[in-house]
Amino acid sequence: MDVTIFETAGEAGRALAHRVVHALQRDPALVLGLPAGRTPIDTYAELVRLHSAGQVSFSNATAFLLDEFVGLDASQPGSFRRFLTEHLLWGIDLNPERIHGLNGAAPDPESECERYEETIAASGGIGVMLLGIGANGHIGFNEPGESLRARTHRVHLLDSTRRDNAGLFGGDTARVPSQALSMGMGTILRAESIALMAVGEHKAQVIADMMRGTVTTQLPASFLQLHRHVEVYLDKAAASKL
Ligand code: GLP
Repeated sequence: MDVTIFETAGEAGRALAHRVVHALQRDPALVLGLPAGRTPIDTYAELVRLHSAGQVSFSNATAFLLDEFVGLDASQPGSFRRFLTEHLLWGIDLNPERIHGLNGAAPDPESECERYEETIAASGGIGVMLLGIGANGHIGFNEPGESLRARTHRVHLLDSTRRDNAGLFGGDTARVPSQALSMGMGTILRAESIALMAVGEHKAQVIADMMRGTVTTQLPASFLQLHRHVEVYLDKAAASKL
């Protein structure tokens, strides 16, 4: 893994935005994988700024959101689709027809996951996958456990993950849905390149374990050690246990 450590979280976020811009300059038809969460907020703000300054266009690009809560559609507060819209999609020129997300409110979640896998494959696969990381080592919503799923699937969220996501629901963990739909580990690992960002001391241990520890289903992000092109963007706090 190719690690870069920045003085501040803001610098790490902006550097990741510039990484995306360079990829788009090389390939305007880039297919991006996009996470929600607090971590990418600075990156998304910088992408909006660069787009409004005329320095980057997404008009030929495609985006796939990484995951979504079960029961929530794109309009509902707390949904990742709404989060992405508010932080990024409103301010860039991605063609709405090429913005793809999992519909958490789909009546048949299993066929929704199948549809998503097929849509990703039909787009030619993901070129640059942006990732955050959960404090327990999850990526997307691939939670630690006895096994991992390769394809997009429905997940039962761990209590710790629901607590970590309570901010999207007014701080009330009880309102965080107990299930989600997520790209699988295979879906993520098939991306041509992966750029994972983590900031803050609370991510320091999981970053050290992800990079230096055993590859194990108990820490899903450790599987990134098997991928040939992973970049890791850290602030000093998140890198403090390396
Ligand atoms: C959520 C998302 C992940 C995200 C992670 C970290 O559970 N499913 O995609 O990377 O949490 O979130 P944050 O960036 O807010 O720490």
